[in-house]
Amino acid sequence: SEKAFVMIKPDGVERGLIGEIVNRFEKKGLKLVRAELKSVDRAVAEAHYGHLRHKPFFEELVEYITSGPVFAMIIEGAGAVQNSRSLIGPTNPAEAPPGTIRGDFGLDVAANVIHGSDSVDNAKVEIERFFSKLDY
Ligand code: GTP
Ligand code: MG
Repeated sequence: SEKAFVMIKPDGVERGLIGEIVNRFEKKGLKLVRAELKSVDRAVAEAHYGHLRHKPFFEELVEYITSGPVFAMIIEGAGAVQNSRSLIGPTNPAEAPPGTIRGDFGLDVAANVIHGSDSVDNAKVEIERFFSKLDY
């Protein structure tokens, strides 16, 4: 069934939010099929945020995502991509409604706790970028 790539960013890991966040995906009925605490090197960060390379905050973004371990996950289930995005909420936590992960745990658009892939095609690319084929 459909797979999404979801990643708790360094601020979420540092703040001890892994359990709370995984719990929300599981309660929704989505399945955690692969997960790993890992560091993101600069090359992977630049590829992951390639669509934002011309933004003024690109360098800040790369430094932030490489600043400490992330918790990378493959989430599986019906509508995994869209349903993950719904649980996560809008990009800017200051504008995200309560009940969403960003709405409940964030305030900062840069350090916004979690990433979720935005399409089924991008989910495939991101899963291959962050996990070796043998892992899933
Ligand atoms: P992701 O799930 O992390 O991909 O977020 P998104 O799909 O909601 O947003 P997008 O892909 O457009 O942006 C990727 C990330 O760039 C965001 O999650 C933020 O961490 C960061 N970002 C977006 N806009 C800004 C901004 O205006 N300033 C800064 N510093 N970071 C931003
Ligand atoms: Mg995005």
